[in-house]
Amino acid sequence: MVEKYVQKTSKSKVMFERAKKVLPAGVSYNIRYFDPYPFYTAKAKGSKLYDVDGNEYIDFWLGHTALILGHSPFAVMNAVRSQLSNGTIFGTSHETEIALAEQVVKMVPSAEMVRFTNSGTEANMYATRLARAYAGRDKIAKFEGGWHGGYDALHIGVKYPYDVPESGGLTVGALQDTIVLPFNDFGGVEEKLKGEKVASITVEPILGAGGCIPAEREFLKSLREYCDKKDTLLVFDEVITGFRLAPGGAQQYYDVTPDLTVLGKILGGGFPVGAFCGRRDIMERINPRTYERPNRSFHGGTFAGNPITMKAGLATLKLLEDGKLTGKLNRSGDRIRERLREIIEASRIKAQITGASSLFNVHFAQKELRDARDVANADRVKLLEYNLWLIAHGVFFLPTHNGALSNAHTEADLERLFSETERFLKSQRE
Ligand SMILES: Cc1ncc(COP(=O)(O)O)c(C=O)c1O
Repeated sequence: MVEKYVQKTSKSKVMFERAKKVLPAGVSYNIRYFDPYPFYTAKAKGSKLYDVDGNEYIDFWLGHTALILGHSPFAVMNAVRSQLSNGTIFGTSHETEIALAEQVVKMVPSAEMVRFTNSGTEANMYATRLARAYAGRDKIAKFEGGWHGGYDALHIGVKYPYDVPESGGLTVGALQDTIVLPFNDFGGVEEKLKGEKVASITVEPILGAGGCIPAEREFLKSLREYCDKKDTLLVFDEVITGFRLAPGGAQQYYDVTPDLTVLGKILGGGFPVGAFCGRRDIMERINPRTYERPNRSFHGGTFAGNPITMKAGLATLKLLEDGKLTGKLNRSGDRIRERLREIIEASRIKAQITGASSLFNVHFAQKELRDARDVANADRVKLLEYNLWLIAHGVFFLPTHNGALSNAHTEADLERLFSETERFLKSQRE
């Protein structure tokens, strides 16, 4: 497959040689690198990416799952176009940020107040600081395999083995103040937190980068009860699940309401975004009219609430508000998982399909996967081969990462995924 990929992507290869001189690994985000080199995208529309060699790819990666309407959807482009000639960043307050905050409050059950950032990482960083300020505690907790962006306090325990620091440059203090908990194992959570007082427990309702593993409903309910008992804030990182699992995100889907919610991706309608929102009494800690240093929790940013992102986000959420689109995508997601399972069963190759709603992932593993440790034990080499097979045949998943659906995907797109998966599995038996 490497040979076939290299044959099809000669211009990308030249571009990679150029890129790696000025961008480490030739990319702007490490996960975008894959062997032998990544293709470089020239344009994107609907459900498709087109690379510099003119190859077309059905895109199941969708800008890190941000593009629930597909690439450059008409309604969003129109909203952005109308804003472009009226200013791209005001650096002052404006009506569209109010409108988008109102829309978030309307849709997300836990949201009484909102603040916007430019990425999910930033939103998690400010939410964590806010939780610490509110609770008056230093320690926080998160889960094995949970990915919340590159912020020190949460960039811990992401990849197996979990005791190896994820990055150089993390201080001993950062490592000591974060407790890493087992996912989908409430008994294990209680055990780990015995004698501890943590400001917050941050959880992804579906582990995204950790293998697309849904939390069990009872597990989230138990976390809610635990946090109530211990005066700990429950933080849902809904950067992936927000506005995708349901109009109100995973908290609506699971019927469990966190104290704070972190949003991103879909919220920006294809433009850089993040947000954190939640209970009024917690969010008010940011208010300089009410709280002075050191009790106030800081939040801000040059591009926070910029009118381009706010317009794009508002146009997107308006289309998701009534739940029809999410319902349709959820049904397609069910069908994809079911069909892929049938294909795998018929092939007699051991693999598992994880995910929920319009998110899914394939893992070459014998048994059902309940957490990121199980994912770490699956056959990653075969997964990379499968992903490269798909890429060489015009179906794009960022290697090893989950797939997502958008409103732009067609029946033909899904059929192509099924037929290429069948062909790959057949090639493994020959
Ligand atoms: C669940 C989750 N939280 C946070 C982040 C970080 O968001 P960003 O990449 O916008 O900083 C991501 C990114 O993939 C994510 O999946």
